[in-house]
Amino acid sequence: MELPFAESYKIKMVETIKKSTREEREKWIKEANYNLFNLKSNQVFIDLLTDSGTGAMSDKQWSAMMLGDESYAGASSYYNLKNTIKELLGFEYFLPTHQGRAAENVLFSATVKEGDLVPGNSHFDTTKGHIEFRKAKAIDCTIDEAFDTEIDHPFKGNVDLTKLENTIKEHTPEKIPFIILTVTCNSSGGQPVSIENMKGIRAIADKYNIPVYYDSARFAENAYFIKIREKGYENKTIKEIVKEMFSYADGMTMSSKKDAIVNMGGFIALKSEETFKKATVFNIVFEGFITYGGMSGRDMNALAQGLDEGTEFDYLNTRIKQVAYLGQKLTDFGIPVQKPYGGHAIFVNAKKFLPLVPKEEYIAQTLAVELYLEAGIRGVEIGTLLADRDPDTRENRYPALELLRLAIPRRVYTNNHMDVIAVALKNVFDRREQITKGFNIIDEAPIMRHFTVKLERK
Ligand code: F0G
Repeated sequence: MELPFAESYKIKMVETIKKSTREEREKWIKEANYNLFNLKSNQVFIDLLTDSGTGAMSDKQWSAMMLGDESYAGASSYYNLKNTIKELLGFEYFLPTHQGRAAENVLFSATVKEGDLVPGNSHFDTTKGHIEFRKAKAIDCTIDEAFDTEIDHPFKGNVDLTKLENTIKEHTPEKIPFIILTVTCNSSGGQPVSIENMKGIRAIADKYNIPVYYDSARFAENAYFIKIREKGYENKTIKEIVKEMFSYADGMTMSSKKDAIVNMGGFIALKSEETFKKATVFNIVFEGFITYGGMSGRDMNALAQGLDEGTEFDYLNTRIKQVAYLGQKLTDFGIPVQKPYGGHAIFVNAKKFLPLVPKEEYIAQTLAVELYLEAGIRGVEIGTLLADRDPDTRENRYPALELLRLAIPRRVYTNNHMDVIAVALKNVFDRREQITKGFNIIDEAPIMRHFTVKLERK
């Protein structure tokens, strides 16, 4: 008999989580103005708000922290991280930052100007925010298949190369400071990009002399999907695939809080010394001196160790199989989810789940609130609230998909938790006909409103 699947680690430390009553949750979510970001963590039983900074570090990462060198300049922890980035990812130059959006802030300050266009595959909201903040535009060139949750395409993060080239031709290469490729593509459901697509993007970039940067928060999960889905890569190690992926990039921004399994941190890595020099100026202004840039020495040590662990097959297999386990349970209950299952999260198709809620009333947010009320599970809306308003017209932007993201923290929950999530969502699904109303906005910020928006029931 074939042995069943089991985690590639055992548990050394635990943290208590508490259940609550529906009555308590009704009160708390109202007090939070129906925004799940406003809940206190102890009001949540299973927290799927994000997989960012919520992972469990290993014994090796914790011990690496004890060896952190807190020197302001030239710390050994900096060189440790620099060497890991060089060896693992192949970049000569690197700048630490306190998290991913800080890396975007620094790199984009050095490269993006008013009127520019930045094509890519469904830019993450902070990436888009940093582009629009500079009065430039993010152009989504993702393949059309990504916007149909039922199509089973192996690389739904891929860029449509014709859309990309047409964008460049239409707007001229001078208006395009770089192409940004998000691996895996969070906004389209944690979907990977193939090596073949990366090579195609590289070829177009070379033709028009435009740099390519990867938004690399989940690069290791992307490499895992290449190994199991792309022909010719099945016998390569994750580390070999990672090296090849980045060989087609000029640089990267990294939120280390995801695939590097640390609670805080980020970096920029580059091949060009010239761009590195430009970015250095902004790093010093915004983040800190170049050998720590917003990170403490111990955090850089834990990050170096996390990059190594996070690119091991057994760890990634455990991780991605758990996400797929939840996906399969939901599919078995008939719940519409993005397929194939993403690397870091399951994305529930809220428009199909709640067909009676009008799009003006924030469908995915309505589902997120219902799931919280059902069992104290906190997911996050990837829909109209996140999509913000058009910067010119100030009208709501209605995205092709309204999704409820259930992001799974790394090495944190067991499959028993996955079972609870699946049944809770099934219970909401069973009463979906009674859910016909959503929310009104009573207060919102001019940009990235989803974090702080206040809502009232319709
Ligand atoms: N890029 C991607 C693809 C991301 O998913 C994130 C963060 C960032 C950049 C920004 O990084 O948070 O370290 O500043 N994503 C988190 C999420 C917040 O929940 O998906 P950060």
